[in-house]
Amino acid sequence: NIVTTTTKTKTTEEETNTVVTGKAKPARNLYIESYGCAMNFSDSEIIASILEKDGFTTINSDNDADVIFLNTCAIRDNAENRIWTRLQDLKHLKKKNPNLVVGVLGCMAERIKTKLLDQEKLVDIVVGPDAYRDLPALLEKVEDGHKAVNVLLSREETYGEITPVRLNTNGINAFISIMRGCDNMCSFCVVPFTRGRERSRDAHSIVAEATDLVSKGYKEVTLLGQNVDSYKWTNPEDENQKVNFAQLLEMVALVSPDLRVRFSTSHPKDITDEVIHTIAKYENICNYIHLPIQSGSSRVLNLMNRTYDREWFMERTNKIREIIPECGISTDVITGFCTETEEDHQETLSIMEWAQFDFSYMYFYSERPGTLAARKYEDDVPLEVKKRRLQEVIDLQHKISKKKNATYIGKTYKVLIEGESKKSGDDYKGRNDQNVTVIFPKGNAQLGQYVNVLIESSTTTSLIGKIVN
Ligand code: SAM
Ligand code: SF4
Ligand code: F3S
Repeated sequence: NIVTTTTKTKTTEEETNTVVTGKAKPARNLYIESYGCAMNFSDSEIIASILEKDGFTTINSDNDADVIFLNTCAIRDNAENRIWTRLQDLKHLKKKNPNLVVGVLGCMAERIKTKLLDQEKLVDIVVGPDAYRDLPALLEKVEDGHKAVNVLLSREETYGEITPVRLNTNGINAFISIMRGCDNMCSFCVVPFTRGRERSRDAHSIVAEATDLVSKGYKEVTLLGQNVDSYKWTNPEDENQKVNFAQLLEMVALVSPDLRVRFSTSHPKDITDEVIHTIAKYENICNYIHLPIQSGSSRVLNLMNRTYDREWFMERTNKIREIIPECGISTDVITGFCTETEEDHQETLSIMEWAQFDFSYMYFYSERPGTLAARKYEDDVPLEVKKRRLQEVIDLQHKISKKKNATYIGKTYKVLIEGESKKSGDDYKGRNDQNVTVIFPKGNAQLGQYVNVLIESSTTTSLIGKIVN
């Protein structure tokens, strides 16, 4: 009975390891390279935590790595192209060290699955976003000479109780993942396919993580989800205990008045007045909302399945500005979505003029296989038109950002010092409440400290000032 024998042998080996030698696994170096959105960077910290318990040390360079993971993104075609190029680069490392293990993790792994193994001889392991607890077992498989894959999505996994190992940290800012997946099905978007159904993490574990970060000296947390406004957690031990996003924000804000709280991403269809009032109520919840519009045309928004129209977006923006007059608002824009006409494009430009976003992330549409748009609509806007429209959107946003930043001149803002300015070792950089970067001479201030900065000049991307007290 081969199966039983195999199982028995394994048990004996495990017992031998623990009881006779007590030997832990050999020390190994793990290098993780993260691509895509903040959720992926946050996941890399969960991966590092899971593997630290398995004897791995996370290092900052691929040179001395025993295992290299690319934690990938699939949101646009060029995000995946970067990974194919990077895999080619890694071939020379594998030649130097044939025992090197290379893994592709995250959204691209979930999207194209075993195809990564077929096409790239150097990929040993493919793991989707909900299967990271399986990594130690999958790596054992690889050590035994097999390729390993787990791309199962889960309806429950939130990695709730795992304390992330903070990577590339300044000891000041940290991400806290509050939910996973997305149920929205915007027609252009691959995320529901790569990250599965939406689920919310235990509210108490989120508060515990924030409390732990404060005790370690962190000064700012960003709560992460694809659609934070639909956060909803019910205590499985007490069905009457329900926490929505506004209540969660309050719980985290109350952890410490010295802890700044940010969050991303809000959805125009779901952001409630209760959330906006909660932001206004607590000084330490930053007056800043990332509110992706995608298009200014109601017809296109309908095809995108965003479930709001131009008027709804304007009403929500007005409400934010009514309750929090100095609120920073940023957005995401896609140009050249299926059937987009010149008139639709003009509507995007005009709503950007109207909304005066502080800044925007701007993209041209990239068809993703399997999405509703790929199945139902023709990708019929020529690439050069998509790109020309994108350039017009970028030019307009730069003009608006420059004008908006100039309005900060002469005002004083509380800034959290987050690092040294890239341009000068004599200057610090930080952000004000509205999420605008502020540069100022160091004086006697320390990293992680809050200082008041008087803004004296501005550029398209930042504010320049001096510390005043
Ligand atoms: N959940 C957020 C939301 O609803 O806005 C963000 C999702 S996605 C990670 C970030 C941005 O990528 C989107 O807001 C959208 O502007 C852009 N994006 C998503 N799919 C895209 C595609 N197929 N082509 C171009 N841009 C895309
Ligand atoms: Fe994608 Fe829409 Fe979900 Fe955002 S809300 S992740 S754009 S499906
Ligand atoms: Fe990319 Fe996945 Fe984030 S597709 S944008 S890494 S959720």
